[in-house]
Amino acid sequence: MMPEGRDFASAQAEAALAVDELLQALLPEPAGHEADLFRAMRHGTLGGGKRLRPLLVLASADLFAVSPSRALRVGAAVEMVHCYSLIHDDLPCMDDDDLRRGRPTVHKAFDEATAVLAGDALLTLAFEVLAAPQTHGDAEVRLELVRGLAEAAGGRGMVGGQAIDLAAEHRPLDLGSVTRLQQLKTGALIAFACGAGAMLGKIGGPLRQALHAYAHDLGLAFQITDDLLDAEGSVAATGKRVGKDAAAGKATFVSLLGIEPARVQARILARQAARHLDPFGERAGLLREIADFVIARGQ
Ligand code: IPE
Ligand code: IPE
Ligand code: MG
Ligand code: MG
Ligand code: MG
Repeated sequence: MMPEGRDFASAQAEAALAVDELLQALLPEPAGHEADLFRAMRHGTLGGGKRLRPLLVLASADLFAVSPSRALRVGAAVEMVHCYSLIHDDLPCMDDDDLRRGRPTVHKAFDEATAVLAGDALLTLAFEVLAAPQTHGDAEVRLELVRGLAEAAGGRGMVGGQAIDLAAEHRPLDLGSVTRLQQLKTGALIAFACGAGAMLGKIGGPLRQALHAYAHDLGLAFQITDDLLDAEGSVAATGKRVGKDAAAGKATFVSLLGIEPARVQARILARQAARHLDPFGERAGLLREIADFVIARGQ
């Protein structure tokens, strides 16, 4: 999938293109009375986004010589869950944002009820994709993927993190609590994406653990960078409103540590993430580049 010597930008662009094509196919052009629902699902999913989670699935699957077409389906499923989480995150009852990926948020382009339903439908479609035989011939593997994504997305994963994030607007959190919040809200889906390659390849033991450790540090570095971009990035570069965490009084690494220490912390975590890949040697080149990208990105 990822030939030696290819630069990171083209590997990322190729993965994004492939996942976009599959998402297009999974979300057909709307017809009938539910047309607006499908239009809203497409609006929230297609045409934008870094596609980091699918790239992580493809890169981790490549470590174990898993067929890219299988990895792509898992990547599309996790991206659908991610896009659903963004559609709901932007709703007025949550972060109340009008701009996402440089375009109006789904509830602005449609309406709130349609945005809620589009998120619901993307979440359920993700599990339909994982459960289909094209994703893996072995039903045990499909079951592990379904269980893994359910755990990562649910109340003990992303949704739990979102709940703590909202509660934190009204009550101060210490560094330990913010770390846990970030691990749940952002880290859990990233950890699923990194572990998916091992699931597809039926790999357990120390190699699976090494990927898990990589994902743990990468997820934190990623969310600290998101918080840094909120504090000092631009609308033009990020495609979303900035300065919103401070305005909402959200506890983040940036609010607790300050900008420079948060940046140093993200750098330490990214370097630490890459060290966990040592057991994979040269094969993990793309995952190492992703760790660099996650803290150097401008969006
Ligand atoms: C934004 O995620 C929300 C967080 C979990 C921090 P991304 O930065 O991956 O958003 P897209 O998919 O590239 O738009
Ligand atoms: C959103 O975090 C995380 C999820 C949707 C799970 P943020 O609220 O920080 O994301 P942005 O900054 O709106 O993209
Ligand atoms: Mg939020
Ligand atoms: Mg938000
Ligand atoms: Mg943010």
